[in-house]
Amino acid sequence: MSDPRLPVVVLISGAGSNLQALIDDNRQADAPLDIRAVITNRPAAAGLARARAAGIPAEVIDHTLYDSRDRYDAALQAAIDCYQPGLVVLAGFMRILTPAFVHHYLGRMLNIHPSLLPHYSGLQTHRRVLAAGGAEHGASVHFVTEQLDGGPVILQGRVPVLATDTEATLAARVHGVEHRIYPLAIRWFAQGRLHLHAGGAYLDGRLLPPHGATLP
Ligand code: GRF
Repeated sequence: MSDPRLPVVVLISGAGSNLQALIDDNRQADAPLDIRAVITNRPAAAGLARARAAGIPAEVIDHTLYDSRDRYDAALQAAIDCYQPGLVVLAGFMRILTPAFVHHYLGRMLNIHPSLLPHYSGLQTHRRVLAAGGAEHGASVHFVTEQLDGGPVILQGRVPVLATDTEATLAARVHGVEHRIYPLAIRWFAQGRLHLHAGGAYLDGRLLPPHGATLP
């Protein structure tokens, strides 16, 4: 019988806690993914050890060795495509992607961003939420489009901002919700329930609202 699991390549730049959440979710009997490779742009990425510990091939494609973004993304794309993934998962991959790269994986590349998009796209989201005195924060899973952090939202997880919060405590709370929503959204994709169509995210054939699906 053919393997029903979805072939996936995960891209990381750092700690890889979201990668770990996927690996852990995938240990269940109904494992939805065949995680074929983890690729990083940073040789020191701590998440590499998580991949290796799980027996997943781990590759470094160091962006500092390339003289243009186009050349880097072309090399990255070639490496990814060797694994023939049905889905590319950005899990803390800290690179701006070229339009050609995004287009190549359009509809089959997801990202997780540490804010309730469209609020706080970009970097240092926890610091900015605290500085603005926001009462609520969270994370968003979205399809990747050419617009940075601007692709249609699939699922959000919300957390309260507490008066006692520091950047570190708030980041930890957001990470907790990330580790719930990313494996879930990726399961939906693996089950064929999630699609990008005409700029919108669809779950079970229904266009999702701007904040995505409601966390069950
Ligand atoms: C997460 O906060 C994610 O939302 C953002 O980068 C961070 C990656 O964390 N895109 P980790 O490497 O998965 O621990």
